[in-house]
Amino acid sequence: MSASTSEIKRITTHVIQAMKNRGEKIAMLTAYDFSMARILDEAGIDILLVGDSASNVMAGHETTLPITLDQMIYHAQSVVRAVHRAMVVVDMPFGSYQSNSEIALKSAIRIMKESGAHAVKLEGGAEVEESIQRILMAGIPVMGHLGLTPQSIYKFGTYTVRAKQEAEAQKLHADAKLLDSLGCFALVLEKIPARLAKEVSKSIEIPTIGIGAGPDADGQVLVTHDMLGITKDFKPRFLRRYLELFDAIGEATQRYISDVKGRDFPNEHEQY
Ligand code: KIV
Repeated sequence: MSASTSEIKRITTHVIQAMKNRGEKIAMLTAYDFSMARILDEAGIDILLVGDSASNVMAGHETTLPITLDQMIYHAQSVVRAVHRAMVVVDMPFGSYQSNSEIALKSAIRIMKESGAHAVKLEGGAEVEESIQRILMAGIPVMGHLGLTPQSIYKFGTYTVRAKQEAEAQKLHADAKLLDSLGCFALVLEKIPARLAKEVSKSIEIPTIGIGAGPDADGQVLVTHDMLGITKDFKPRFLRRYLELFDAIGEATQRYISDVKGRDFPNEHEQY
């Protein structure tokens, strides 16, 4: 943790903006449960995202589409209970904000009221402008998400890099400016060319948080289970693995099985 944020008791939208203003990078990770959130918060993470990637990572679905608002709130409640310092942002799941702005506001209010989280995140630009405006008017901080937006996977057809072509890059840039002007407090840029992420980050006031968007976003986010090596076969170019926990947990489990079957566990000190 950098010296400049180490004394801060609670990360807020103002702290996040100040970090961009003074050139300090923002570190964000996903969390879906109490135990992991506690470790990440104590380690000094700035933002914990209760991502709808819980649909993949926790529930084993192929996409983020099936997870429900109730399930997101359950995950968010568990994370909020663990956290003392980090800002907790909750993904609005597919179907909870796209149909109209009234439904979007109701969903955002449920997330904030029932989980105690500090902000919501939703995917898209001009298409969801009205919903974003309405949520912001209720005093709920909103994080945007552009580039590869996994809730639209069936429209894109693939998880490859977005906005490589000029027209899509221009639309992304315009959407980023729109989200900035509406009053979003931060913006996730997923899987876009590093050059574009740099341009966008320079041209808007609010911080950008990149995933597969190069080094010049104002912060970085990874799915915690990917960066700890719990998800075994997911190895995109942008991912840096800090542990190989799939293997480590597997080996520990094999040792436990062997100790149980060999009558080595529990020993005389491990009983009453
Ligand atoms: O759901 C998620 O984990 C996300 C991140 C990849 C940004 O949206």
